Amino acid sequence: MAIIYNREQNTMTLHTKNSTYQMLVGKYQYLLHLYYGKRISGSMEHLLTYYDHGFSGNPYEADNDRTFSLDALPQEYSCLGNGDYRSVSFWMKREDGARGCDLRYVSHEILDGKYALEGLPAVYAKEHAQTLRVVLEDVQKLVRVTLLYGVLADEDIITRSAVIENMGASPVTVEKVHSACLDFTHGSYDLIHLSGRYGMERMMEREKVTRSLARIGSRRGTSSHQQNPFVILAQTDTTEDVGLCCGMSLMYSGNFSAEVQEDQFHQTRISMGISEELFSVVLKPGEVFTAPEVILSFSDQGLGQLSRNFHRVIRSHVCRGMYRDIPRPVLINNWEATYFTFTGEKIYQIAKQASELGVEMFVLDDGWFGVRDCDQSGLGDWYVNEKKLGEPLAELAGRINQLGMKFGLWIEPEMVSEDSDLYRAHPEWAFVIPGKKPVRSRYQLVLDFSNREVVDYVFHKISAVLDGAGISYIKMDMNRSICDVYSSVAGKENQGAVLHKYVLGVYDFLERLRERYPELLIEGCSGGGGRFDAGMLYYTPQIWSSDNTDAVERLSIQYGTSFGYPISASGAHVSVVPNEQTGRVVGMETRAMTAMAGSFGYELDSEKLTEEEKDQVKEQIRDFHKYWKVIHHGDYYRITKPQENREIAAWQFVSEDQTEALMNVVTLSTHCNSPVSYVHFKGLDERKLYRLEIHGGGKNDTLNGRLLYGSALMYGGLPVPVMSGEYQPWQVYLVEAQQEV
Ligand code: DGJ
Repeated sequence: MAIIYNREQNTMTLHTKNSTYQMLVGKYQYLLHLYYGKRISGSMEHLLTYYDHGFSGNPYEADNDRTFSLDALPQEYSCLGNGDYRSVSFWMKREDGARGCDLRYVSHEILDGKYALEGLPAVYAKEHAQTLRVVLEDVQKLVRVTLLYGVLADEDIITRSAVIENMGASPVTVEKVHSACLDFTHGSYDLIHLSGRYGMERMMEREKVTRSLARIGSRRGTSSHQQNPFVILAQTDTTEDVGLCCGMSLMYSGNFSAEVQEDQFHQTRISMGISEELFSVVLKPGEVFTAPEVILSFSDQGLGQLSRNFHRVIRSHVCRGMYRDIPRPVLINNWEATYFTFTGEKIYQIAKQASELGVEMFVLDDGWFGVRDCDQSGLGDWYVNEKKLGEPLAELAGRINQLGMKFGLWIEPEMVSEDSDLYRAHPEWAFVIPGKKPVRSRYQLVLDFSNREVVDYVFHKISAVLDGAGISYIKMDMNRSICDVYSSVAGKENQGAVLHKYVLGVYDFLERLRERYPELLIEGCSGGGGRFDAGMLYYTPQIWSSDNTDAVERLSIQYGTSFGYPISASGAHVSVVPNEQTGRVVGMETRAMTAMAGSFGYELDSEKLTEEEKDQVKEQIRDFHKYWKVIHHGDYYRITKPQENREIAAWQFVSEDQTEALMNVVTLSTHCNSPVSYVHFKGLDERKLYRLEIHGGGKNDTLNGRLLYGSALMYGGLPVPVMSGEYQPWQVYLVEAQQEV
């Protein structure tokens, strides 16, 4: 049993293969957190301490006992109003204007299977999963809070969510509702988070948790390029391969916050959920609010294992649809090849040339609809610009299909250009605060997706285009941060809920797409990776990671992304050199090797490739087919850290049965009379003998064809050949060999 209730001890224990999570119904029915860490047996109640702390209040019933204080005790779901002065998970405003409540344990139940959340993405598991529902109620019976815990024991995953219900007779306003909170009674921790900017998303940062509140989050309406809803709390001595750490991934694509702080008694609290900024929800009697899910995992084998836990759960229990398991088509996208300037014939020629090289899908990016020859007009007018294409879309798609290629299309449903028929007809459908000039970004405004009528309209228009055109793939883009949040249909009271309802509207749109076109592959995008989160991955199994296609910059982006997200989730393309974003020149093989650490494709004008490059493309696609399984379904290992290693970048994949592995190395700098770098494989079977198949390295490589044991490759390592020139690729493919030596 993964979930155990012990009546004598009054504990509820959640076991996964390697971890344990435990809570206690303590004195006065308060739900206290006992433990989250390496798997243990028995109760951890001995970790709780009771002292008379100054300025730490006590529940009224404690009478003369000044040692029981919620200001010091670890809690499962802390709230404002019970004497806890740390960053709490929940607060609400009562009808009389006072803020505060007092939540106590009432009941719980253990259920088979994993709970689902209405209208929100959530981890799913058909079998081998259990749910714990714990009901807390306010002592004055104003609200009921149901805490949900899902346990996927084999995956070392625990999920959490909270459902708030108004059980009183008057409205209450929920002003903060985090989804999960973890209290640690002792220990010294670092916070790891993925911060960045447009074009340089998800840079891994690690900082010490101190007494000052560390808060990361987004107030841009999307999860954002700047910070990502994935965080790790690691003991300060935890490394890639050793030590204790736990991660939290919020399945949500809007404003969020994660807060971490060491309190006055050196206890650490981390909590995560929707950001309380720009947020409030009025609940009438009987109404409920469901907080998005947080996925938790714990590792006692360092950050690498923690990442692999998240990779596995996202690949198999978050992503859906047929492309979860089968190879995704190698695609070519015309954005960097043509931007807005193309005709149907040009598109066809790019596709035709690409199909001859083995590319399997063509994606028509921005500019095919309305009047859209630049980014100043057309968004919202979802009809095909046949004049520009010179033919109906269905005809163009049909011609491309005849080449043996699938056809994909770009859309940006949440946006409207002021210069569009839609905006002229429905200015009230855009987010604009009455009487205030809105903030423009990329000349566009945001449609009010909290209004169902808007979602219905856009879905109707876009599906009319998709219905007739044999479309296999959609790139769903979103190209600005949200501002001027005001919904013309929400009313004065409910403006605080608009951004959350907007996110629900986006999810609704995506779910409708999935239902109507079950075989469609959807790629998420927000000006690159501005909405790269586990919530989106529930609808779109891959997300365009960044508009920055420079292979060298992608090394850092992909390194950071790998902490919380699987390789298959990152859209990655080979583009031209000098690179459009940085001007850097990197060889074709290195560009391809880097892009293969993702959902692989090309973004260039195939007609401009030289004969040599065409041969390289053919070979790259053959390689990708050969390595696809180990890349997308194998275990991923970070071998080098970009912050520390300026000589090489290396990463590696191992198949689940350890019979295959692929080491990838890019040299970063070049020196005269250079010292040699070494790479050590990880995750191999020590006793297995592997045959080495080497790509790159030039004449300096003498290892090709060698047979070496897993132990030798892991503990001795391999010398990386010294190559001339920066950014050279070196790849070592291992296959288990028969015992020939
Ligand atoms: C931003 C995306 O990230 C790009 O790949 C491209 O689709 C443009 N939008 C098109 O406007």
